[in-house]
Amino acid sequence: MRNILVTGGAGFIGSNYIRYILDKYSDVTVTNLDKLTYAGNPDNLRDIEKNARYRFVKGDICDENIVDGLVKEADVVVNFAAESHVDRSIGKPDDFIRTDVFGAFVLLEAARKHGVRQFIQISTDEVYGSIEDGSFVETDPLMPSSPYSASKAGADRLAFSYFVTYDVPVKITRCSNNFGPYQFPEKLIPLFVTNAMDEQSLPIYGDGKNVRDWIFVDDHCDAIDFIEHNGQNGEVYNIGGGNERMNIEITEIILSELGKPKSLMQYVKDRLGHDRRYSVDCSKLFAMGWQPKHTFENAMQETIKWYVENRWWWEKLKSGEYLDFYKQNYGASA
Ligand code: NAD
Ligand code: TYD
Repeated sequence: MRNILVTGGAGFIGSNYIRYILDKYSDVTVTNLDKLTYAGNPDNLRDIEKNARYRFVKGDICDENIVDGLVKEADVVVNFAAESHVDRSIGKPDDFIRTDVFGAFVLLEAARKHGVRQFIQISTDEVYGSIEDGSFVETDPLMPSSPYSASKAGADRLAFSYFVTYDVPVKITRCSNNFGPYQFPEKLIPLFVTNAMDEQSLPIYGDGKNVRDWIFVDDHCDAIDFIEHNGQNGEVYNIGGGNERMNIEITEIILSELGKPKSLMQYVKDRLGHDRRYSVDCSKLFAMGWQPKHTFENAMQETIKWYVENRWWWEKLKSGEYLDFYKQNYGASA
């Protein structure tokens, strides 16, 4: 049995990754270490919580004692745990520095001490910053522009330094914007789908022409697994879906799919330091033989359908702290 320690596995991508791994391999056990912040949700793994090959541990990746014991038992560590929402990082960067940077350090120190077979640091395309034309390759300089992306860049390079200095078998992935089931409804797609379902306005920042590359979450999980088995230690891998869209295009797809009027589109003040465009060149990964398996159109339809059919999952998340945050930042539009 191979034991994978997944951190942040109760969040959006981590929970999809755990489901993907347990389905694909019968000889793998997964330990999920998650602090259960506002973004961590046991409902994301309700269908597998009784699986004998799955174990949940509530805890903080900054806590050396918990981390030490779990890394000691692990063959592979996949670090998803992070504060992940750019808007929150603009309002209050503290937790981003603590979890995204210091937490990665605590995990890397334990990996160094116990000699894990593999350490995968889930970084992001946002570490490169914004690009007007063309696409970033893995060797381009990092120019992160939000406290979120800067903290992720810190962890990304710290992980690399543990490979160079201590020979920790680190691999780093930089993926573009994910979408799919179980994404917290503060991010663009689940927020707009669930708002539109309830005929509430969709707050578009600035002119809505910012561009993101979108990838279905299962393709991201598949790429991480592919890189674990086919990648080289000390290397960085861009992962993208090849689906660059302006935010207004995404908004129009959602409204049309749900049969809702364009009058729900509401232009609001822009995000501070809002990156105009993200774009990653994935030729390195493609040359190794990996390709995304889902088309953007089908995956968007599947995702929208999932939120329509799973109101029980998201409705309770759109209250309390979540709503306070949006009212404070963007009026009552959420
Ligand atoms: P998420 O916010 O949905 O989940 C983060 C999880 O980490 C939550 O379960 C939370 O409880 C947990 N967590 C936070 N602080 C913790 C701590 N100190 N100790 C233990 N657990 C903690 O985020 P996500 O969208 O699933 O992103 C997962 C990872 O993927 C992040 O590292 C993010 O930077 C990266 N990433 C995300 C995207 C995207 O589009 N969402 C794209 C590329 C990379
Ligand atoms: P988001 O989902 O927060 O991801 P990221 O900022 O990490 O790329 O936002 C995606 C894009 O959508 C980004 O350009 C900001 C924009 N956006 C809005 O216009 N309105 C919203 O309410 C949100 C959450 C995002």
